Amino acid sequence: MPDIDSIVARAEAEFAAAADAAALENAKARYLGKAGELTALLKQLGAAAPEERKRQGAAINDAKARIEAALEARRAGLAEARLNSRLAQEALDVTLPGRGSCRGGLHPITRAWQRVETIFRSIGFEVADGPEIENDWYNFTALNNPENHPARSMQDTFYVDLKDGNGKDGGLPLLLRTHTSPMQVRYARMWAQRHRGASPMPAIKVIAPGRTYRVDSDATHSPMFHQVEGLWIDEDVSFADLKGVYVDFLRRFFESDELQVRFRPSYFPFTEPSAEIDLQFASGPLEGRWLELSGAGQVHPQVVRNFGLDPEKYIGFAFGSGLERLTMLRYGIDDLRLFFDGDLRFLRQFN
Ligand code: FA5
Repeated sequence: MPDIDSIVARAEAEFAAAADAAALENAKARYLGKAGELTALLKQLGAAAPEERKRQGAAINDAKARIEAALEARRAGLAEARLNSRLAQEALDVTLPGRGSCRGGLHPITRAWQRVETIFRSIGFEVADGPEIENDWYNFTALNNPENHPARSMQDTFYVDLKDGNGKDGGLPLLLRTHTSPMQVRYARMWAQRHRGASPMPAIKVIAPGRTYRVDSDATHSPMFHQVEGLWIDEDVSFADLKGVYVDFLRRFFESDELQVRFRPSYFPFTEPSAEIDLQFASGPLEGRWLELSGAGQVHPQVVRNFGLDPEKYIGFAFGSGLERLTMLRYGIDDLRLFFDGDLRFLRQFN
């Protein structure tokens, strides 16, 4: 009878050396399998004398139990090593700072736009919206700016060139609107139509904010910018009303009664008299400098006629202000291109 203890010792050593589950199962077969060493010993037992069979049987069973225990221990050891290696591979560093859910915010121009709407609504103005691709008549002609008039060249823009050479809009050239003033005409004509026959016609009181386009680019001019148009037409709306309404708007927009506002004589074909409104920077690198904010004036009688109204009866004012300029003045910003660069370090300051 071979040395059972040495068989157990070899089995234990082989199990310990098995690097993975497959190697371990192969090693197990060499001892406990059908052709295994221990199985072979059991088979030989039949030939032994009864006393001897009993003694050897007990010794073989004892060896088998020890080998099985070693096998189980190694199986558990390999399983644990496998688990540890997976845990290491799929490790999560729970101490890393989370990405978080970043809250977006409104663009400073959008904030200015919303403030303007809120203030004008509170004094009874409607808010209207209109097309950015405009026809030549609304953008220029109806505003007393006839074809070939030199004032047109002050507002060069992008023309939409259709293949057949004709604008879609009744043969009129189409262009990206250079100002929000065409909305005066669109809104007033709609209003005059709606209240035809009413005497007196209810007042037109409207603002029209939106995008506008020109061939312009520097620190205070952008090719795409925003304007807000204002129009108040009734039987007795004067230039003094323009000053009152506009200065009151500025005080509320800038939350200050200490503003330095200047009305400068100017020229627009669609207003008479006309003014340019400037405001002084109260903070920032341009503190103390004046910035033009708006064009304004009493609506020209020819334009009132183009509204479909009698200029002998109806009179009022209009203004067109730059939203970027309002925002620059509010926050003391010296270059309006910053609004369009999309630099989060700049934009986050407003949220
Ligand atoms: C006009 O556009 C007239 N339609 C304003 C008006 C309306 C006059 C009603 C009378 C009655 P002006 O070209 O000056 O005028 O532009 C008005 C304002 O828009 C300027 O004062 C400025 O604040 C802003 N603005 C004009 N061009 C640009 C530009 N390229 N980039 C940014 N803001 C601009």
